[in-house]
Amino acid sequence: MNILLLGSGGREHALAWKMLQSKNCSKLFVAPGNAGTAAIANNLDLNPNDFDVLKKAVLANEIQMVVVGPEDPLVNGIYDFFKNDAELKNIPVIGPSQRGAQLEGSKEFAKEFLIRHQIPTAAYQSFTAANVEAGYAFLETLKAPYVLKADGLAAGKGVLILTDLEEAKLELKNMLVDAKFGAASTKVVIEEFLDGIELSCFVLTDGKSYKILPTAKDYKRIGEGDQGLNTGGMGAVSPVPFADDVLLQKIEERIVKPTIEGFVKDQIDYKGFVFIGLINVNNEPFVIEYNVRMGDPETEVVIPRIESDLVQLFTAVANQTLEQETLKVDPRTATTVMLVSGGYPEEYQKGMVITGLDQVANSLVFHAGTALKESQIVSNGGRVLAVTSFGEDFDQALKTSYQNIDKLHFDKMYYRKDIGFDL
Ligand code: AMP
Ligand code: GLY
Repeated sequence: MNILLLGSGGREHALAWKMLQSKNCSKLFVAPGNAGTAAIANNLDLNPNDFDVLKKAVLANEIQMVVVGPEDPLVNGIYDFFKNDAELKNIPVIGPSQRGAQLEGSKEFAKEFLIRHQIPTAAYQSFTAANVEAGYAFLETLKAPYVLKADGLAAGKGVLILTDLEEAKLELKNMLVDAKFGAASTKVVIEEFLDGIELSCFVLTDGKSYKILPTAKDYKRIGEGDQGLNTGGMGAVSPVPFADDVLLQKIEERIVKPTIEGFVKDQIDYKGFVFIGLINVNNEPFVIEYNVRMGDPETEVVIPRIESDLVQLFTAVANQTLEQETLKVDPRTATTVMLVSGGYPEEYQKGMVITGLDQVANSLVFHAGTALKESQIVSNGGRVLAVTSFGEDFDQALKTSYQNIDKLHFDKMYYRKDIGFDL
């Protein structure tokens, strides 16, 4: 079948690479894609959020399945757009309905879902400009540090963690009254700080049953030792060594099962990935966030470890027969290291020529922000390449990634040399 994958990052290159291994994928289109996807599939130069343009491309290219990489087309309702269109309604979209996507699109919606289904999460209250005074009073009842979350999508920047009460009050005012994150901070969730280690759990669901994918952990800060500004993610490892069977069992029973049952009870149409951000507090897992897509760069370690046919799994998701499938996972460790543009996550330049790609051996190089320019591959974003390797353990896998990174070059290239330092 002909498949269209939406997105343009390392996550999408990894998904495209995996889907192309399926005998059920005859032709793969990626919109808009990058230089990495252009080398293995057919890039379509269109905006995944322009559904009318997308519809024309889907019909013209006889697309039979759409897989959604990033969250914004989902939050904008791409699933419902297909479902409600006479010409598109039989083409499955892998991703949740617009209501399901609210789990990522609205922190308050997610918190209400978690509380309603008795899933462990930090205590919280939400506030608007109309009751900002009550927000100050709530902050006074909490102990530092203070966690403030803009309700809506804020490009990963909407969460502030502050140690000082007065600063927390000021930031609350900035968000609610002065629209620090625009419309995304019209409402703010204030929650109890959870002290523990983060990990992520990835689930593929057809809305009734589910498969738990390999665990992963990403490294969000730009600097070594987890210092400096937050990024989309500078590297990742899978599996997470401290996620033992006891913890995984708790995560499945207390979090994954009630989440999927919650979709059924709330009649939320959900056929896609659920990315559950967790904090492990003294061996008790708590949900800190839901995302309605795969993580990036977690995909670059999770997907290569899946041995099962991904397109077959997606077909089962669409047909709600996922229960009949088995998920085979490679027992080896996978690691990925992100090569980013100097200056990222603040200002950086694009258009730097990338060399050494043909020298890489025993690693997978997934393109994140790259483009083709006069038949050369150039950087085209903050995160540029993800270098993924396998190993018997993460030291061995990382060694291979770093050996290959030595062969890669673009002007002002930067990467963290300490991925996995805390494990
Ligand atoms: P979120 O976008 O909700 O994942 O939050 C971004 C980051 O803030 C997370 O990856 C955590 O590191 C941190 N965080 C969020 N909520 C909490 C919390 N309740 N306690 C401690 N850290 C948190
Ligand atoms: N790496 C974190 C994310 O994709 O949101």
